[in-house]
Amino acid sequence: MSDLYIAGVEEFRNRFPIFREKVYINSCSKGALSDLVVEAIQEFLDTWRFRGSPWEVWGERVAQARAAFANLIGAEPREIAVSFCASTAINAIASALEYKGRSKVVLGTLEFPTMAHIWLAQRKRGAQVVRVNGRNHRLEPEDYAAEIDENTLIIPMTHVCYENGFKTDIKKVIQLAHSFGAYAFVDAYQSMGTTPINVKELDVDFLVSGCLKYMLGLPGIAFLYVKSELIERLEPCDTGWQAQSLRNMLNNEALDYAEDARRFQSGTQAAQNAYAALAGMQMLQAVGLPAIEAWIGELTQAIIDGAIARGMQVLTPTDRRDRGAMVAIQSKDPAAAVAALQEHGVIASWRGSAVRLSVHYYNDMDDVEAALRVLESNRDLMVGA
Ligand SMILES: Cc1ncc(COP(=O)(O)O)c(C=O)c1O
Repeated sequence: MSDLYIAGVEEFRNRFPIFREKVYINSCSKGALSDLVVEAIQEFLDTWRFRGSPWEVWGERVAQARAAFANLIGAEPREIAVSFCASTAINAIASALEYKGRSKVVLGTLEFPTMAHIWLAQRKRGAQVVRVNGRNHRLEPEDYAAEIDENTLIIPMTHVCYENGFKTDIKKVIQLAHSFGAYAFVDAYQSMGTTPINVKELDVDFLVSGCLKYMLGLPGIAFLYVKSELIERLEPCDTGWQAQSLRNMLNNEALDYAEDARRFQSGTQAAQNAYAALAGMQMLQAVGLPAIEAWIGELTQAIIDGAIARGMQVLTPTDRRDRGAMVAIQSKDPAAAVAALQEHGVIASWRGSAVRLSVHYYNDMDDVEAALRVLESNRDLMVGA
């Protein structure tokens, strides 16, 4: 898809100018800006500046981004809808389901809030939302098994938790959902770009990811995968002209949904974001997700080992199979801890009671050490092990 080749961590890192001034360890919040994405956005601006309104060129770039995402997850381009954010993508599916007969939505408590809000809103349409509580910051397939039954319509699940970095065993939960005839929907926002994901191997029904974090692009674009055989069974109420068949997009007399996953789209695509998204995905492909995952595994292990050695309390699983690219370290005042990091040029973030240190292929062991050193020197803000 692109002939870009990147030899290793240092070469990758050099393409992200922020590392010349800062220790950036916050990809769970926002991916860093690369020179390639700058060039891609400039290319969009140039087409606009010099050609005025080349919608066909922008449409082609959206199509390329759609194909690149399909390729990244082992899907066909026709199974991908180009959406604006995870919320709009999830809403398209939630609005296409009918909560008759089966009406139960089995929803974990480690979800990013938007996943809960959208399904809770479906209660007006007949959905019955049942929460699955985790234990010790984890949510196991057995926890889901306790709630699922023949009335279950769908299990929406986050792949990696935004708050503590726990990685759900999605394959097992998907199998469980299917064994009861329910759909499985994966929110891969906190994992896409950090680990290989193959939707066919997973046999997942729906999967969503936005591009602004580990996918190294901008806000304002997200991709929704819908399994081929489900597409034509679903007719979203949350819709618009870009969801209609190409021959009837401009027919305002009737609804005529697209035959492919475009039917889960709504309005004019954010073309500038597709430029950035494609460039971000080309960078991921240039390294390869297995290599990215392996390096992230080393870095997160170093964070966990270093934090524990310094007497701090880590909320993220120590087994690398059970975590994503973020490590949550418990703090008495996480906002103050993040401010202290920032004062020392380290950019991180916090959620709940934890400081989040999150890594990508551009981070190195010096970044890990720099962040841990600041937290150690602010021991009074951290919770002891
Ligand atoms: C797991 C997860 N899902 C979804 C989102 C964002 O959703 P949206 O694209 O609708 O803003 C985030 C953002 O932090 C997230 O971490």
